[in-house]
Amino acid sequence: MKVLVTGGAGYIGSHVVFELIDQGHDVTIFDDMSLGLVENIDPRATFVKGSTLKESDLDAVCQNGFDVVVHLAAWKAAGESMAYPGKYAKNNLNGTVNLINACERKGIKYFIFSSSAAVYGTPEYVPIDEAHPVIPANYYGETKLMIEKNLEWFSKLKGIRYAALRYFNAAGYDVQGRIRGKEQKPQNLIPVVMEVASGMRDEMNVFGNDYNTKDGTGVRDYIHVNDLATAHVKAMDYLIEKDIDLVVNLGTGKKCSVLDVIQKTEDVSGNSVKFNVVGRRDGDPGTVLAGSQKAHDLINWTPINSNLDTLIRSTWQVYKNNKLEEAQS
Ligand code: WQD
Repeated sequence: MKVLVTGGAGYIGSHVVFELIDQGHDVTIFDDMSLGLVENIDPRATFVKGSTLKESDLDAVCQNGFDVVVHLAAWKAAGESMAYPGKYAKNNLNGTVNLINACERKGIKYFIFSSSAAVYGTPEYVPIDEAHPVIPANYYGETKLMIEKNLEWFSKLKGIRYAALRYFNAAGYDVQGRIRGKEQKPQNLIPVVMEVASGMRDEMNVFGNDYNTKDGTGVRDYIHVNDLATAHVKAMDYLIEKDIDLVVNLGTGKKCSVLDVIQKTEDVSGNSVKFNVVGRRDGDPGTVLAGSQKAHDLINWTPINSNLDTLIRSTWQVYKNNKLEEAQS
């Protein structure tokens, strides 16, 4: 199939692009490079620099004719979305509405959307299945839910079939080592721990150790980006074969605490990770865990890389030479 991947130079987007091309698809990356990295671009893909905020850019790239759009161009920092909701409304909402309209104008029938567990907000029960209430606790999650609702309408009214893939905590790096771009100023746990282990920062904060979890620190469901990527290809195959919309969680159902991540990183790197326990971060639930039986049943998806050892080892491969790289830069 001919596939347009927006945000295809980003952390998750680049892994999706490599997997699509590995599976024999013809891929064009559309990215404004505000967060994307040139080093993440699969050389087998066509690259078009452009913005979903410019309808002329979208019409120009869509002239090439595509069967499927995979939409990963969005901002994802939950905390930032609460401080700057206008930025998130513009980039996430306006950008996606422009893209959906371009799909309608250009007759692109299938839309794979990078959604998020953030649509669920504070868990009322875990593991969280797709029947869980969707009450986002931050504006980032609200933008994802609003886009899902728009996609539902455009499916009904214009026949654009969509798959909303609700990622839990995306982590890790390509197990084949093909993608090595580090996120700048990361806020998520694993890159922060890696920055300490590799000497990019002296220490980190652990946001609370008084949760009702095995060691008191936050528990999450970390899903390897390679496993996320295979889910995108399987979801695309499902849409084309069944012509039915799809909303699924992408997670493992496996618990992993902040201290588990720190300990594993120390074991793998051989370096200590200095941390200070501070107060809880606003909006953080103690435990977030995915129920992803639906993805297993409907798209025959099983995460095979999402064990903590692979998550940490594949990430350390990217961070371990940092001191050397810094000295050489
Ligand atoms: C994980 C755990 C923190 C940093 C966010 C978004 C969510 C999704 C995934 C896109 C928590 C603790 C973290 C640190 C810490 N993004 N932590 N010190 O908050 O579960 O989810 O990313 O879809 O929408 O909200 O991820 O990595 O920030 O936190 O102690 O320096 O690590 O308290 O328990 P989170 P996270």
